Amino acid sequence: MQKRKLGRSGPEVSAIGFGCMGLNHHRGPALRKEDAIALLRAGFDRGVTFFDTAEIYGPFTNEEIVGDALAPVRDSVVIATKFGFKDGRPNTGLDSRPQSIRRMVEAALLRLKTDRIDILYQHRIDPDVPMADVAGAVRDLIGEGKVLHFGLSEADDQSVRLAHAVQPLAALQSEYSLFWRQPEASVLSTVEELGIGFVSYSPLGRGFLSGTMGQNTSFEAANDQRKTNPYLAPENRAANQPIIDAIQSVAKEKKSTAAQIAIAWLLARKPWIVPIPGTTKVNRLEENIAAAAIEFSEEEMGKIDEVFATITPHGDRYATAPRPQAQK
Ligand SMILES: NC(=O)c1ccc[n+]([C@@H]2O[C@H](COP(=O)([O-])OP(=O)(O)OC[C@H]3O[C@@H](n4cnc5c(N)ncnc54)[C@H](OP(=O)(O)O)[C@@H]3O)[C@@H](O)[C@H]2O)c1
Repeated sequence: MQKRKLGRSGPEVSAIGFGCMGLNHHRGPALRKEDAIALLRAGFDRGVTFFDTAEIYGPFTNEEIVGDALAPVRDSVVIATKFGFKDGRPNTGLDSRPQSIRRMVEAALLRLKTDRIDILYQHRIDPDVPMADVAGAVRDLIGEGKVLHFGLSEADDQSVRLAHAVQPLAALQSEYSLFWRQPEASVLSTVEELGIGFVSYSPLGRGFLSGTMGQNTSFEAANDQRKTNPYLAPENRAANQPIIDAIQSVAKEKKSTAAQIAIAWLLARKPWIVPIPGTTKVNRLEENIAAAAIEFSEEEMGKIDEVFATITPHGDRYATAPRPQAQK
């Protein structure tokens, strides 16, 4: 697979990464550990060199899976993880105090079975900790060689600028897809100006953009967080069907699948955007990876924009979680 560079001095990664969260967190029944490891290795064998995890996935166990899977190929892959929630658990509040960041990194290195984290993201902006302190803590860890690059997730423009002034950012990771285009309002131009890469999470709109989610699909598993995403509520799935219809008509023209079009569209937006779709299935992994070979002409991209300009997406993505916040 082609490679892309994240940030001016950031790492080179496969154009499409592997979002590891759904292996055992927030996306339905967890895979058995050995199956999850085999899937990650299948990704590596097919050219994926960029793997995304977080302390809160599991919590903790997702990093362990990633560590076990990638230990044999450690020097050939880029591992990204995230800090920022109290005690590393979701729903406990935010905690980006410097001492907590350091504690998290020491523990994550053990779980990931490595001596360095390639990209360390702040998962969410912590309004109680100045960004200069967060970036300073990561800068110290970079100085010690425990972390190689710094990133933010779901950060606003001002936070990006504040962080980047203290410790240059390799990447901003935020939701971005044909379903959720809010980053186009301003943060994409900010990262372009500063030479920061953009990692697009939920590039398939949590599965919706693949067109395989029917209006009767229910997210029954206790850990499937999609039951709480307003844009995936049954009435919004019905209202958002024109998005699927539009993608499927492009897919037909390009002799590809809707999921591939959703991923290839992101790759075509900018050469510094890297989508990280997640899956628990090897056939979908292969389908998604094949999107790296799909190219759009400017005319085709223009046509897609024209069609999407006529479609209004329905529903927010999170019921309660924060929007990108301003940082003091
Ligand atoms: N920074 C953050 O706050 C944040 C938030 C959310 C996610 N993320 C990262 O982004 C990654 C991906 O996000 P995501 O899981 O929310 O969304 P996604 O990649 O948009 O969608 C994943 C879902 O789509 C399904 N899927 C994948 N490929 C498919 C295909 N070709 N055809 C049909 N269905 C397909 C998967 O189901 P199957 O398993 O059944 O294939 C899975 O449930 C996560 O793993 C995580 O690393 C980060």
